[in-house]
Amino acid sequence: MRRTVVTMPGDGIGEPVLKEALRVLDAAGFEADYVHADIGWEFWKKEGNPLPQRTIDLLAKHKIALFGAITSKPKDKALADLDPSLRDKGLVYFSPIVAMRQHFNLDICTRPCKAFAGNPLNFIRRGPGNTVEEPPVDAVIFRQNTEGLYGGVEWTNPPDVVYNALNTHVKFRDNFGDVPREDLAVSTRIFSRKACQRILRAAFEYAKKFGYKSVTICEKPNVIRETSGMMREEGRKMLKEYDGIDLWETNIDAQMMWLTKNPEDYGVLVSGNMFGDIVSDGFAGLVGGLGFACSANIGDEVAVFEPTHGSAPKYADYDISIVNPIAMIMSACMMLDHIGEIEMAAKIRNAVETVISEGKVQTYDMKKMRGTPDVINNGAATTSQMTDAVIEVMGR
Ligand code: NAI
Ligand code: MG
Repeated sequence: MRRTVVTMPGDGIGEPVLKEALRVLDAAGFEADYVHADIGWEFWKKEGNPLPQRTIDLLAKHKIALFGAITSKPKDKALADLDPSLRDKGLVYFSPIVAMRQHFNLDICTRPCKAFAGNPLNFIRRGPGNTVEEPPVDAVIFRQNTEGLYGGVEWTNPPDVVYNALNTHVKFRDNFGDVPREDLAVSTRIFSRKACQRILRAAFEYAKKFGYKSVTICEKPNVIRETSGMMREEGRKMLKEYDGIDLWETNIDAQMMWLTKNPEDYGVLVSGNMFGDIVSDGFAGLVGGLGFACSANIGDEVAVFEPTHGSAPKYADYDISIVNPIAMIMSACMMLDHIGEIEMAAKIRNAVETVISEGKVQTYDMKKMRGTPDVINNGAATTSQMTDAVIEVMGR
């Protein structure tokens, strides 16, 4: 069956890595028509909207998308970059990724962090005596993708109704009652029960399907009692439906410490938006970092697959791209899994695995070099050489 896939390269290195992922999909025999969609800084600058309506329409129509990365800048820089004809229109920059997740309710974010054997960037730790151990990390983080601290309900110098409502809370009066209102910044952390249930369900179902022994709720319910507490409460209820899976509960701070102690003990993890972002970056760091971290944003209708990394502007304008395409290629594999092309996804993943274990072709990050144009002369593979290697293995 021929598919239609929306492609959103976005900014910076989003473009070169997406291009390489498409080459791999072609080589694997995936038959698709790719429909380009505009997103990112360029469209903020030109149109005052980093997520144009025509892109939303394409996503609504075709449902499946591959996304590279975008550039975001702080408020003042955003205004300075805006086309002069748009500057007095009161436009405010917003993150097109967060907006896309919220618009299509892409509330289930999945971030697998599995160590490839032979990856020189894998985390190692000291064992007994002078031994060195390389724990076989295989964790999958489920991050609630639309609510919590990324919900966007926030104010500096909150308006009367908000201020007055906050003032009804004794803790607010006690701790912030004397602070001048213009010196108050408020970002809310709102959880809804349904969204908690949906992310927990996705995590438990994944653990069941792929044989993970535990689901860890990584939150902070001892301090953030209401929101983290709701996630924990719903997790405990849901556990009863899953025989043979253990429920572990960790606090985000302790979890980040345990990451380097016993990362191989964790299977599926589930968190709210911010903590999910943090803990998934933590695990990604153990298995090679941003060049390897892939992700899926899944809603009931639309699904968008993207590497976790950003647009890496430093490397965007290289004549020959040096960044690692594996995170984008693995994100494309997640897309294939999602649409049921399981064998094709496995074929690509196996090829990536082989290239890494053979160790002959490595991008600059894998060689632990500082990213400069001359890494190529010093033995690092370019973005497209890494892709070529993956394609070559698939053809063996
Ligand atoms: P970044 O992820 O773009 O880059 C950080 C560093 O990680 C790079 O300088 C590079 O050393 C390394 N890196 C990233 N991707 C790599 C790859 N594929 N291969 C090898 N090394 C790689 O994060 P940064 O510098 O904090 O942000 C740059 C821009 O990207 C900002 O405008 C930021 O807002 C945006 N951003 C966008 C994201 C997205 O589109 N999902 C996520 C994170 C940041
Ligand atoms: Mg992040």
